[in-house]
Amino acid sequence: MTEMTAKETFNIPAQEGFSPSEPLSLISICLDAQTAGVVKLFADSTRRVVLQKNLGDYGLEDTESVFAWIGDPPPDVCLIDFDQNRRSAALAAEGIRTGAPETAIFAVSSQSQPDAIVQAMRSGCTEYLVKPLDRDQLLNALARVGGRKKDRKEQYSAQVMAFVGAKGGCGTTTLVTQLGALLANSYARKTLVVDVHPEFGDAALYLGLTKYRYHYLELLENTDRLDAELLQSFVMHHSSGLDLIPGPDGAEPARSVLPGAVRQTFDFLRLRYEFILLDLGPGLTEGNLELIRYCDQLHIVTVSEVAALRNVVRQIDYLTKKEISPDRIRVVVNRHNKRGLITDEQIEKAIGQRVFWKVPNQYVQVMKTISAGDTVGQVSSSEVTKNLNEWAGAVGRKAKKESRGILGLWSR
Ligand SMILES: Nc1ncnc2c1ncn2[C@@H]1O[C@H](COP(=O)(O)OP(=O)(O)OP(=O)(O)O)[C@@H](O)[C@H]1O
Ligand SMILES: [Mg+2]
Repeated sequence: MTEMTAKETFNIPAQEGFSPSEPLSLISICLDAQTAGVVKLFADSTRRVVLQKNLGDYGLEDTESVFAWIGDPPPDVCLIDFDQNRRSAALAAEGIRTGAPETAIFAVSSQSQPDAIVQAMRSGCTEYLVKPLDRDQLLNALARVGGRKKDRKEQYSAQVMAFVGAKGGCGTTTLVTQLGALLANSYARKTLVVDVHPEFGDAALYLGLTKYRYHYLELLENTDRLDAELLQSFVMHHSSGLDLIPGPDGAEPARSVLPGAVRQTFDFLRLRYEFILLDLGPGLTEGNLELIRYCDQLHIVTVSEVAALRNVVRQIDYLTKKEISPDRIRVVVNRHNKRGLITDEQIEKAIGQRVFWKVPNQYVQVMKTISAGDTVGQVSSSEVTKNLNEWAGAVGRKAKKESRGILGLWSR
């Protein structure tokens, strides 16, 4: 171990240690004079750390005053000297861990017995630095904090787009899966489709992903222990880059899902994706309403038929009564035919709003995509794909990545 001297602290090579894009803010609590001096010299010698203050006592009485005590916003790192009073130091660490969980707490002490280290770690310290401070040890510990801060910044906050059919067979699953694959493939957006059908989900089938072990309802049941690793056992990966959480492929017994599980699950998923597309089961059930309230936009997928259009009107009425803002509702006309019996004007008059998107009618190409999944040549030039790619572009907004072409997604 190398003891950190003033001379060394002024000589930290640029390539050594860590280089967070912005400096880490640092405070210390009850550091002895010598260690405080070393930390100050260290901070003065690098732009990677800004030393904010050295507090002279362990003075946290209640967690409500954490910010007033350590700063608002709280620092990235707090060094606590455990030597003056180990119990008070441990209480201070616990208070910071509870009140400012994003602050990393480093214990500093001249004691290196396992008991002392375990006590500090239990109180919330993530690093234990033994005096005299070692430069490499401190740099490495700060590098870990810098890395975690960067990871946190890279978290997403997905736009959640729900899709429900005006009636069965309007093409909801087709649009959700293909739009999702285009967002992932042509626009390099981290996209997830969730098939939230309570039974007989077919989004996986439409993407040719038929071998799966777990489905969405099981995910809901396990929300309380959901972490990145567990999530991976539910997610299937399509070659377009799209991820999918499938629905149950058969009839399902009723499941008791804890209240709040839906929100908790999607709050978790939202941080990991840029777009989440929901293939809702049929009807405006209580389950669907919860998701509709949660999502950013609801797309009602219809076709230009009287019965379907009548359902669109009923659904919008019902949702308005349930206090779902009409601003969040978009009507999509699938299998649109410019020379159809019902004109666009008649459709818009009937539903009382503009049609958000029209997808052309191309039964043969769409069927080939779903059943074979590899009919590249024909489907790539299909009007439906071009149309949906435009939609994905309008939503995805990012420069096109070099892709396998529009049809990378069809050719798994
Ligand atoms: N734009 C389109 N042009 C022609 N056919 C289409 C189009 N979109 C979907 N289809 C066809 O419509 C049928 C129903 O599609 P899909 O299964 O996606 O509908 P859905 O609304 O999800 O049905 P369900 O109510 O059973 O969930 C499929 O055979 C599909 O190939
Ligand atoms: Mg469907």
